[in-house]
Amino acid sequence: MNASAAKTCPIDHSQLTRPSGQTGPTGCPVSHGAAAFDPFSDGYQQDPPEYVRWAREQEPVFYSPQLGYWVVTRFDDIKAIFRDNITFSPSIALEKITPTGEEANAVLASYGFALNRTLVNEDEPAHMPRRRALMEPFTPEALRHHEPMVRQLAREYVDRFIDDGRADLVDQMLWEVPLTVAMHFLGVPEDDMDTLRQYSIAHTVNTWGRPKPEEQVAVAHAVGNFWQYAGKVLDKMRANPEADGWMQYGIRKQKELPEVVTDSYLHSMMMAGIVAAHETTANATANAVKLLLQHPEAWQAICRDPSLIPGAVEECLRHNGSVAAWRRLATKDVVVGGQPIPAGSRLLIVTSSANHDEGHFVDADFFDIERDNASDHLTFGYGSHQCMGKNLARMEMQIFLEEFTRRLPHMRLAEQEFSYVPNTSFRGPEHLWVEWDPAQNPERTNPALLQLRQPVRIGESSHGQTSRSMRVDSVEAIAEDVLRVRLAAADGRQLPRWTPGSHIDLQCGDTGISRQYSLCGDPQQAGTYEIAVLREEHSRGGSAWVHSHLQPGMQVQVRGPRNHFVLDEGARHLILVAGGIGITPIAAMAARAKALGIPYEIHYSARQRKRMALLESLQALHGERLHVYAGEEGRRADYGALLAAVRPGAQIYACGPQRMLDGLEQASRHWPEDSLRVEHFSTTLGALDPSKEHGFEVELRESGITLQVRSDQTLLDALRGANIDIESDCREGLCGSCEVPVLAGDVDHRDMVLTRSERAVCTKMMSCCSRARTKDAKIVLGL
Ligand code: HEM
Ligand code: FES
Repeated sequence: MNASAAKTCPIDHSQLTRPSGQTGPTGCPVSHGAAAFDPFSDGYQQDPPEYVRWAREQEPVFYSPQLGYWVVTRFDDIKAIFRDNITFSPSIALEKITPTGEEANAVLASYGFALNRTLVNEDEPAHMPRRRALMEPFTPEALRHHEPMVRQLAREYVDRFIDDGRADLVDQMLWEVPLTVAMHFLGVPEDDMDTLRQYSIAHTVNTWGRPKPEEQVAVAHAVGNFWQYAGKVLDKMRANPEADGWMQYGIRKQKELPEVVTDSYLHSMMMAGIVAAHETTANATANAVKLLLQHPEAWQAICRDPSLIPGAVEECLRHNGSVAAWRRLATKDVVVGGQPIPAGSRLLIVTSSANHDEGHFVDADFFDIERDNASDHLTFGYGSHQCMGKNLARMEMQIFLEEFTRRLPHMRLAEQEFSYVPNTSFRGPEHLWVEWDPAQNPERTNPALLQLRQPVRIGESSHGQTSRSMRVDSVEAIAEDVLRVRLAAADGRQLPRWTPGSHIDLQCGDTGISRQYSLCGDPQQAGTYEIAVLREEHSRGGSAWVHSHLQPGMQVQVRGPRNHFVLDEGARHLILVAGGIGITPIAAMAARAKALGIPYEIHYSARQRKRMALLESLQALHGERLHVYAGEEGRRADYGALLAAVRPGAQIYACGPQRMLDGLEQASRHWPEDSLRVEHFSTTLGALDPSKEHGFEVELRESGITLQVRSDQTLLDALRGANIDIESDCREGLCGSCEVPVLAGDVDHRDMVLTRSERAVCTKMMSCCSRARTKDAKIVLGL
């Protein structure tokens, strides 16, 4: 798109549907918020997800006339865009977002500037073979080789200022160390670091910024110099191709695969690779240190317990990552988040906004270093172009934080205003002033601490690895065989807010068992979580452990909260159905419905009244809206009668035994699809039993890889083993997060997520539990 096109809407306004029904100042249906959107404004620079909060909440996909881009702000939409790199081409990822004038273009041409396709902006079918050919230097084994170098650099830089009591961490360390690491990784000699530093900022402004006309020429000279310098370094490398480095690896691969690793690629990557590896990581670390020091409780927690650092890194990347937005080009007419978008449109996908989407992250604005799904963030992109250097970046960030927390735990932020280089995508403060009292430096009294080393975790800190320590506040019997347990953060820290339908995962001591329990107290009550636990007759150990072991004052490990059972607050009527202990999420939903003024009714059944938890409080709060069915009293819920007439706009939420859920499904068949939403609190899926399973083959069509899934392995594990990031949460077929696209194959669906018709068409499967039906049935996935 050229500059003049960016000023007008290229869309047929009659096609536009606005949830808000607003029109903009010119009568054009571009809403006021969309018309005012300016990613170069201070608001966006200071806090991109906050700046587009209005969009995330009201108009998640909008056209920005100022930018000439469609702007996408929600997690699910952005992830779907990343997943489909054919419909949404990455080719514009490195294109200048603000077209420059003729003079600057002439300057660039005079340097022979020809930055072309690398990886990040390469389309298929060229991209995948190149990515595969160049992947090896990013494997965990190869990355370990760089760990001592990163540690030594971090150590040396801190040595330089540790006795000063004050430092600008960006200027004095965080800019240079990732640059040196990037150069080592790429195989570049260290000599020209200072020049490079200026060049790489210029490249950011040139690509993602809006330089003023008078700045454009200076920027163009710097970019031109950067380009020529990159060419010279590449020539030096070609003379010594056996040396260490990713570029030399590429040069060697070029001999084997000249059509895949081209000359144009190597020159462009030499320049783009430095920016990819350097600025992203420098900014991410500066953002992380700033964020942690702004949350002293979190900072103190990682100082006390360095094993929290990998989780903290992930949460920092989610909450305030160094890439705020990325770009794609629509190659055909397509619908995103309900909004038709014409072929040829440019999309700004605001990943930092996705990372604050309440639909995916519980209490998304809350900074929670113990968030168990923080690594679902989209700061590294997702899908076939997902950042190849993500584990190098994670390793660097862990080492920097480890060094700071060990040697400068008393560091605090100095008074300052933060400034950012105005651009749409790369984000980090230009300066980060911190101060401390050098007399208190712990190594002055304890030099031995310099020898300590926290083992670095290479790779994603995945689900299940991050849990929070909680203290049992009270345990009280509230019905026969039902205990109410109140939990508070072990160190008194704040807890994330939760919404009705949320659950936590309680680890049962060292039994290796963990169980999910819905939260049932008052979401407004900050600082504690409440669950009700029934002693199950056929318990696999979880509820029996809770009943026999939990005592006030004990410490337990908890994951979450997560919510897979979200209440639709726009529903016109709510039919809330609970069986037995399934009342826990339903009670929270009923309280919320009452608070919001949504008409609702509760149907609560159990065999015996004395085993019905929360009965009194429900009666007091909901009066006649509560219908109780105690089997021993001869009262049984008749779901057929209850659901005989379809009530438009009504939603049914149910939690209870499988028998009850089956009955409801049967009784609601004539209701619109999706009217019934259920929470399973048990699954028949236990640990995989290899003696009853068989291995099978999986072809990943887009990656060109074939994998064997062993009988003692899930498909999810096999995919992760092949460096393919797939999300997961419950790992029991309950939540839907590990879904993968199926192109062919006979799948044995074992999850509780897919509907019958979805299983029949079989275009997706849950990789944590579902498998090939027979040994010889190969599955082909769209990955
Ligand atoms: C791609 C972010 C560090 C190398 C990307 C993408 C993003 C990103 C958003 C595009 C993803 C997509 O289109 O789906 C980051 C962040 C980093 C970081 C936030 C630091 C915190 C690094 C490092 C390296 C690196 C250290 C190299 C050593 C690459 C490469 C690609 C890429 C080669 C292109 C992959 C492809 O298109 O197949 N990165 N990156 N990145 N990144 Fe990073
Ligand atoms: Fe929850 Fe697979 S991880 S369904």
